[in-house]
Amino acid sequence: MTNAAPTVGIIMGSRSDWPIMRHAAETLDKLGVSSETRVISAHRTPKRLEEYATGAQGRGLKVLIAGAGMAAALPGAAAALTPLPVLGVPMESKLLGGLGALLSMVQMPSGVPVGTLGVGKAGAVNAALLAAAIVALGDETVAAALDEFRAGQTAGVAAVPDE
Ligand code: RP5
Repeated sequence: MTNAAPTVGIIMGSRSDWPIMRHAAETLDKLGVSSETRVISAHRTPKRLEEYATGAQGRGLKVLIAGAGMAAALPGAAAALTPLPVLGVPMESKLLGGLGALLSMVQMPSGVPVGTLGVGKAGAVNAALLAAAIVALGDETVAAALDEFRAGQTAGVAAVPDE
C-alpha cells in the first residue's frame, strides 16, 4: 500500500479472503493507487460495516472493493450505505465453486448497484484495474500508469505458444 491517503478501500468478509483479495491490493500498489484494507463482515460485524461505509466518502475514498464468499452480502450492504461505486469480488467456495456468491452480488435489486467481477483471483485483479480506471478519470498519473500497464501486458503476450 502506498503512503498517500487511501483512495480505494478494500474490504472483505473474513481474513480467509485475504489470499485472494491481496491481489487487488497488490495490483493497486503496482499502479501507484493508494488503498487500505479492512476485514468487515455484513453478518458478523454489521456495526463495523455501517461505520466504515458511511464514513468512506468523507475520508476521501473514491471506490470500494468488497470481497465476500458464501451468502456474500457485504458488497450489497456496503453499496446501500455509501454513494461511492462498489465493486464486488465473489470468493470461491466448496459449494458450487463460488457461483452462489457471484449470483448474490450480481442480482442486486434495481436502485442499489454492485459492479460485480468474476470469481476469485481474476476478479480481484480486475476489480483493482476497474477501480484504478475510475480513479484515473480525475488523475492523470493513474491514467498514465494504467496505459503503461496495458502496453506492458500486450508486449508480454508471446505470438507463438512455445516461445
Ligand atoms: C464470508 O464467509 C467471507 O467473505 C468468507 O468468504 C466466508 C467464510 O468466512 P470464514 O468462515 O472463513 O471466516 O462472509
